[in-house]
Amino acid sequence: MTVHLTTERLVLRRFTDADVDHLVELDADPEVMRYLTGGRATPRADVVGQLLPLYFDHYERYGDLGWWAAEERAGGAFLGWFEFRPTDPADRGEVELGYRLRRAAWGRGYATEGARALIRAGFEELGVRRVVAYTMAVNTGSRRVMEKAGLSYVRTFQEEYPDPIPGSELGEVEYALAAADRKPADRKPAGREPADRKP
Ligand SMILES: CC(C)(COP(=O)(O)OP(=O)(O)OC[C@H]1O[C@@H](n2cnc3c(N)ncnc32)[C@H](O)[C@@H]1OP(=O)(O)O)[C@@H](O)C(=O)NCCC(=O)NCCS
Repeated sequence: MTVHLTTERLVLRRFTDADVDHLVELDADPEVMRYLTGGRATPRADVVGQLLPLYFDHYERYGDLGWWAAEERAGGAFLGWFEFRPTDPADRGEVELGYRLRRAAWGRGYATEGARALIRAGFEELGVRRVVAYTMAVNTGSRRVMEKAGLSYVRTFQEEYPDPIPGSELGEVEYALAAADRKPADRKPAGREPADRKP
């Protein structure tokens, strides 16, 4: 198992071919997919032929930026994933943050915990200068995670979809956080003293 990072309650690791069922089951829940596809599941063939190859390609190209499977530290249950990948293939400085968790894992602060850890590592260890995130304007939970992770509202915009889903008429929102705008309280790694930090 290739671990990317650990938090108090989570392990974020690389995806492998053994995760096909995890991803198929995650995307088979209409509530999980509500603000992504209107509830439609992702076909298994797309998980195998598109999603996993995309994730593996990012590991090869960027190493420590990409999609990470999230597991519970206690017990190892698959919880879902976090995304933290370059928006521009030629520049590692701006990354997009995203997350998708199994319904059983909602409401326990996991999305906030994983997002904060990725942002901290991005700014402090990976040379990231700006984190950006997008969601449907009506996706209150996702917007709240962005805010709790330190991102601020930037704009609302309209995307043209061939197959619009309920709520898309209210548009998409963008949130962002630049390295220079981080709150001092977010800069100190939890549970570590400054002397313990990497140079
Ligand atoms: C969005 C999602 C990742 C949130 O995960 P989570 O682990 O439950 O989030 P957290 O527990 O860290 O909650 C963070 C905050 O958001 C709030 N929140 C979470 N879901 C909410 C919802 N559906 N409605 C309103 N507030 C919500 C929480 O109350 C908490 O705020 P608080 O501390 O002020 O009470 C999860 O619901 C999910 O995976 N949804 C499906 C996929 C998705 O929509 N992803 C985002 C697409 S861009």
